[in-house]
Amino acid sequence: MKIDLITIFPGILEGPFKESMIKRAVEQGLVEINLVDLRSYTRDRHRQVDDTPYGGGYGMILKPEPLFAAVEHLKAESGSTYSRVVLLTPQGRKFDQKAAREISDINHIILICGRYEGVDERVRMALVDDEISIGDYVLTGGELAAAVLVDAVVRLLPGFLAEEASAKESFSEALLEHPHYTRPPVFRGMEVPAVLLSGNHGAINGWRRQQSLKRTYERRPDLLEKADLLPEDKTYLDAIKKQQL
Ligand code: ADE
Repeated sequence: MKIDLITIFPGILEGPFKESMIKRAVEQGLVEINLVDLRSYTRDRHRQVDDTPYGGGYGMILKPEPLFAAVEHLKAESGSTYSRVVLLTPQGRKFDQKAAREISDINHIILICGRYEGVDERVRMALVDDEISIGDYVLTGGELAAAVLVDAVVRLLPGFLAEEASAKESFSEALLEHPHYTRPPVFRGMEVPAVLLSGNHGAINGWRRQQSLKRTYERRPDLLEKADLLPEDKTYLDAIKKQQL
């Protein structure tokens, strides 16, 4: 997969992809991440990427010419038959695990990080295929949103997660994670649940599944509606509900 990120502040995006697991994915060749400085696609002396809004008002708008030039060049350069152009904006569709999975199937994505009051409407009309918001809050620009999207998408690429972990994820991703413990067995009087020390993998998996169900029920009951529940899951949830009445 190739990901181009178009931004007027490449410095914001230099850190996140140079650490830890995303760095490893880049080194392994699972993904190529390319930071593109929008200013390098300007043709005027002042290298102007933004301008005041027609009709007046507050703030600056990203101009269409450099964005069209950048996207057209990046598409041609990729040689890919299909490139998805995604604008990060609070007006976009809400990003979630399903959107991450869908985007992880595309070979070439071009992310446009919006800035200031927005981008010229003709960019939306004729250049952008998809608009994404990472949540109902307003950031100063799309860069951090793009970093979130890239992180969530790259960890889904085949070969990124150990096979066992990815299989587990597809089964239980609609639920919240069960609690985790590591050494020591007792810390400040708080004990690790005995089942986790038992060596009985059947019992451990059963306990984890029930803890996931319980946590999801307590914190995000909305997620249970979409989850693939087994008959024993439903029995367990019914039991918790009764206890709490
Ligand atoms: N740009 C500013 N706020 C944003 C958000 N919540 N999601 C995506 N892009 C943004």
